[in-house]
This record gives sequence, structure tokens and C-alpha cells, in this order.
Amino acid sequence: MSETFRAFRIVEEEGSFTRSIVQREKNELPKGDLLIKVLFSSLNYKDALSCIGNKGVTRNYPHTPGIDAAGIVEESQTEQFSAGDEVIVTGYDLGMNTDGGFGEYIRVPAEWAVKKPPNLPLEESMMFGTAGFTAALSVYKLLLSVNKDAGEVLVTGGTGGVATIASKILVKLGYNVVVTTGKADVQKDALMQLGVQKVLPREEVEDTEGKPMLKSRWAGVIDTVGGNMLASVLKTTAYNGVVTTCGNVGGDKFQSYVYPFILRGITLYGVDSVQCPRELRSEIWNLLSDSWKPENLDSMIKTIGLEALDQEVSEMLQGSHSGRAILKHDHS
Ligand SMILES: NC(=O)c1ccc[n+]([C@@H]2O[C@H](COP(=O)([O-])OP(=O)(O)OC[C@H]3O[C@@H](n4cnc5c(N)ncnc54)[C@H](OP(=O)(O)O)[C@@H]3O)[C@@H](O)[C@H]2O)c1
Repeated sequence: MSETFRAFRIVEEEGSFTRSIVQREKNELPKGDLLIKVLFSSLNYKDALSCIGNKGVTRNYPHTPGIDAAGIVEESQTEQFSAGDEVIVTGYDLGMNTDGGFGEYIRVPAEWAVKKPPNLPLEESMMFGTAGFTAALSVYKLLLSVNKDAGEVLVTGGTGGVATIASKILVKLGYNVVVTTGKADVQKDALMQLGVQKVLPREEVEDTEGKPMLKSRWAGVIDTVGGNMLASVLKTTAYNGVVTTCGNVGGDKFQSYVYPFILRGITLYGVDSVQCPRELRSEIWNLLSDSWKPENLDSMIKTIGLEALDQEVSEMLQGSHSGRAILKHDHS
């Protein structure tokens, strides 16, 4: 068994950050209960931030990003797992300050891993990844009060990883889904293929006037963007409606009014995939493997190797990508 493996590594030198594929030794990995041979990972916005030295995500370099990993346990120091178990690791510190799934091996505490549901192949688990898990958590919260006959449900940041999977799940569950995107000119057809009812350009949804409330439009909203988009959808959510918020690509500040809350009784749910308790984590993965698994899971998903990651990261940072990229390690 080889003691070396390949990893996509970020190095800091005099304040600038470079990315390259390097050979590493297994004994350089951090301590942990499980040594996992990673077969698949996926690219998330947080990984892109880690790649450019965002200290809110990764404090110390050199570092291997990759907040998602799916693979096979090679060594276990705990009775909860055995060599050969197929596991999914998302959230906690993976890929942030602990070497992540952009390496062919990871070593992590046992609490971070869940055994994959029997009817979910490892590759499919990474088609979901943290983006899909976050999408499912968002849908889970929306479903607490919005049923499928309540009216249109809006998903923002339409072509993003979280949004495409949230849309697919909602369509599967019979909801009337509208997505908004900044790329309606080129991505409308691809988004319609998800089974949504309408694709709206961002400017048709985002408010620029700053009024406290606007005409009711949405029974519920899954917002993946934050900033002014979040402020805008709070003003247009219908009576007793629900908004979930998980992201900050459109800004981490928003200005709001109390009126949508006290006059329309709307609810704003925060969504956090990182510290999500294990019981709910397993419930969500089981839903994703079964009744919530979209028919068209692999649409708007591409599989890449380590060599293509650099370009994919650049596109994500420019906001010019669409859908999700799955990383397949070849272990050659
Ligand atoms: N809370 C959690 O646990 C958790 C977990 C995973 C992700 N997240 C966060 O959720 C967000 C979405 O993640 P993701 O993986 O789906 O990211 P992503 O693939 O980069 O998608 C984000 C989408 O937002 C839209 N967008 C980008 N810049 C924008 C801007 N300035 N204004 C308005 N819209 C903009 C783009 O879609 P269009 O061009 O189609 O509009 C983009 O595709 C990120 O902020 C991420 O950090 C949070």
C-alpha cells in the first residue's frame, strides 16, 4: 500500500497564495480516528475562498481544501467504523483548518463521518455534497410551514450548487418552483430543465427602491445569496410565509424592517450545515437517498479530475460557473 498520495495544495508566500498538485505522505495528515481513502469530493464556494487565502475559512497554510469527502475507511481506531466502510464526511472542520477532500486521503475524528445510506452510491453523495445537504436542510425548514399548495416558492442564486439541488428537491416534492438568476440570458433553458415553472432575471426580484414592504409574491423562499437579495425577498414573502437563509455571496449585510414579520407573520430560518447535529444529519442523508432524491440528480453536474480544479475554482470566484463540479480521484 503506497504511503504517498496526491493533493491539491494551497501555499502562502509573502501574502500571496498559489495552488498546485503535490505528493504528500499519509503520515503528514492530522491525527484522527479514521484514515479514509477519498474517492470523490466536490467544489463549494467555501473551498474557493480557502483557495485564495480567506482567513475566515482557513487560518493556516499550506493547506488542502475540500469540505466534502466520500470514500472508504482504510484504518479505524474506533469500534464505530471498520476498514472497508463507505462513509461521507461533510461539515465540521474538514477542508477548513483540517486537510480536506482535495487530497486522495483524509484523517478525521469518527464523529465527523456518517455511514452512507445503502441506496446512495458514493459518487451520488458528492453530487449532493455540502451544497446538497444545505439545500435539503433549507427545504426541511421550509416544509415546516409551507405546503405545496401554498403558492410559488422562490429559489435565489438559481444556477448555484445549493440552489440547483434545492430546486430539484422541491420539484420532486411537487412544489411550484420559481428560480431567479443573474444568468437568465444563457442559463434559462438549463434551469427550466430542472422542472421549475419560471426563471426570472435577478433584477425582476431584487428591490432597489428600499420600501419597507412590497406586494406579496412568494409562499416561501430559499435564499442562497444574502445581502440585498435577502432583504428584497423578506419584503415580498406572503402572509405566514417562510424564508431560509444560508449564504452570503451577495453580501453579508442586509437592511430590513420589522413590518414583514409583524404584519405578515413571516419566519426567517437560518440554515447551518457545519454543526448540524448527527441525528438530523443522518435523517437528511436518508431523505436524500430515498424520497427526496431528484430524478435528474446529475443534471448541471460535471465530474472533473484534480488537474481541472484550478480552472473550476477561478470560475466559481468570478461567478461564471453553473451547477456543481464533482472531483473524482483516480488514485493512479
Ligand atoms: N450555511 C451553510 O451551512 C452553507 C453551506 C453551503 C453553502 N453555504 C453558502 O451558500 C451560498 C451558496 O453556496 P453555493 O455552493 O450554491 O455557491 P455557488 O455555487 O457559488 O452559487 C451561488 C450563486 O449565487 C449567485 N450569485 C453569485 N454572486 C452573486 C451576487 N453578487 N449577487 C447575487 N447573486 C449572486 C450566482 O447564481 P446566479 O448567477 O444564477 O444568480 C451563483 O451561482 C454561499 O454563500 C455559500 O458559502 C452555506
